[in-house]
Amino acid sequence: MHIHKDLKMAEVIHMNHHLLPVLNRFDIYLGFGERTVEAVCIDHKVNVDFFLEIVNTFHDSSYFPLRHLQSFKASMLIDYLHKTHAYYLDVKIPEIGRYISEIAQTSDFEEIHRKLLKDFFNQYQHELTNHINKEEQGVYPYVLRLEKALESEDANAETIKELQQYSIIEYEKDHDDVEAKLFDLKNILIKYLPPVHNNKLLNLIVHEIFELERDLNNHGHIEDLILVPIVENMEKELLSRHPKRHSNV
Ligand SMILES: [Fe+2]
Ligand SMILES: [Fe+2]
Repeated sequence: MHIHKDLKMAEVIHMNHHLLPVLNRFDIYLGFGERTVEAVCIDHKVNVDFFLEIVNTFHDSSYFPLRHLQSFKASMLIDYLHKTHAYYLDVKIPEIGRYISEIAQTSDFEEIHRKLLKDFFNQYQHELTNHINKEEQGVYPYVLRLEKALESEDANAETIKELQQYSIIEYEKDHDDVEAKLFDLKNILIKYLPPVHNNKLLNLIVHEIFELERDLNNHGHIEDLILVPIVENMEKELLSRHPKRHSNV
């Protein structure tokens, strides 16, 4: 069952508690009382349609209404994606890192196991941070500049010049699967480390990594399937408005 605006927000969490961090990205937190999804969104000045599409893509991975999602403003998507990055780097990765440091201290491991686990985690943290920084410093500001240029009558000459030298397609080509890289880390925990007494903690780490993987997967789909086509259209529109300057370069 998909989530709709007349459902109570509390029921949404009863249906799927994995949505809690997604709600937090809209600055929506627990304590909903009897209010509906629509009422909570209005209270928090959140676009109800956008909220519903995002939570439903997360709730049901086979639900991905490309056309509708591509009708939203790029800045709305960027805001959501930016908050998702912050969740990974400020909450999820440090949390998993703390669990890994804790489990690494177990006397069930030899030094080689500790090193293997820590090295893989540190490497993953480094790769994810680099991936996110590249987006936060490069492509996201570019998208926001395009949106601003489209909204203003007279686009900034520098933005037009930038547009003539760069296209979102370059980002799409280089965009790697950060979630796929979690596979090795999961395998170390699942297959290669010896059994430990603190099984609960090990289970928790594996669970958290699967959760992160699922979240990253959804995030990557939004970037590739929603953000990129929106930006392609923005680029086309802006270039069609400035054909003369374009042909001069
Ligand atoms: Fe991202
Ligand atoms: Fe990405």
